[in-house]
Amino acid sequence: MDAADVPGSSVLMDSPRTIVGVRAAELAAEVVTGAAGTTAPRVLVTAGSGFALRSWSAPLLAALGSFPLHTVVQSGLPTPESVALLAHQVRAHRADVVVTIGGGSVMDAGKAAAALSVTSDPTPESVVRMCREGAGAQGVPPIIALPTTPGTGAEATPFATIWHRDRGRKLSLRGSALLPATAVLDPDLLVGLPAPHLVSCLLDTLAQGLEGAWSIRADERSEWLGATALALLADLLDRPHDNLDATQRHAALLAGHLAGRAIAIAGTTVCHAMSYSLTLRHGLSHGHACGVTLAAVLRYNALVDDDCTDPRGALRVRGAIDKAVQATGLDGVETLARKIEGLARSPALPPVPDIRRDATRIATEALAYDRAGNNPRRVDVAALTRLLARTAERDYAR
Ligand SMILES: [Fe+2]
Repeated sequence: MDAADVPGSSVLMDSPRTIVGVRAAELAAEVVTGAAGTTAPRVLVTAGSGFALRSWSAPLLAALGSFPLHTVVQSGLPTPESVALLAHQVRAHRADVVVTIGGGSVMDAGKAAAALSVTSDPTPESVVRMCREGAGAQGVPPIIALPTTPGTGAEATPFATIWHRDRGRKLSLRGSALLPATAVLDPDLLVGLPAPHLVSCLLDTLAQGLEGAWSIRADERSEWLGATALALLADLLDRPHDNLDATQRHAALLAGHLAGRAIAIAGTTVCHAMSYSLTLRHGLSHGHACGVTLAAVLRYNALVDDDCTDPRGALRVRGAIDKAVQATGLDGVETLARKIEGLARSPALPPVPDIRRDATRIATEALAYDRAGNNPRRVDVAALTRLLARTAERDYAR
């Protein structure tokens, strides 16, 4: 893909520097020294709990073996406590560069810990404060991101999600320091990814691609990025989701990255806003939680008219949705919505709990997140409750 293909901007040449389709181990040392600006950088690697079991982990660590290296395994969703602990480890190692290898949670933890590591005594309270006040860039070690799942796009965004379970709420950390200096997209890092993770990530990509296109903050670039992500995923929607071949892994990884870039521009909307309660209260993985309402929200937003919240008007919104649908090669909104529903009900995913009795609370909590205001068609508690109920009825009225 050529940056010149992107309308109005050389968006693929913007930060992060993105390297696509290479073997990460072959470039790791060069990428690390380039980002750190020194020939012997101190490197902190943070990776997911399955890291040691993956066939590519040993060569990747060996490639970095000539540097002072400290590896930290990060499991579970990032919390104020886990981010503060990781920030202490970044400080203790005096890391010149932080390398995050994993899915969205691992990358978000590494990004947040790097930003917090400039604080003399990182604490869970300082994480919460930084989420409120924003992250400064001064002195933050550069971040290199190597995604091992194809969907969150965390390697392309200047924000991280922190889960504050005590308060039953998701926190957002934002700041330019969180944007990785380099993203390495190596499709081989997806080898061995379990089908439930893959399907969840594909749903996250679909949600981020569509939301990045229809958001009231969308522009020509994010519409293109979102539509291109959907085009890359079109052939993956109906097939079994294990043992992707090299071409399919490449397409899925690139789609996730482009959709991540789309939301870095446009933000997400009500699918993501509703997802946080579905994750915190009902245990759905992030992508599953976003994908479960996506078909209903797609149908709802496609009918935007006088209730449009985008000052550019309903035609802009319907045009962006049409472009995204056309990119998939499908014949209309309803066909795409049915494909999305099929993926969200994949046997690879756990069954969705019956959320009908909790729909009003989920809707109310969703509207408290700023991103709900990015939705291009007006929503209120009643509208979101109806969308959630409609989603659940399709699952439970069968
Ligand atoms: Fe997401």
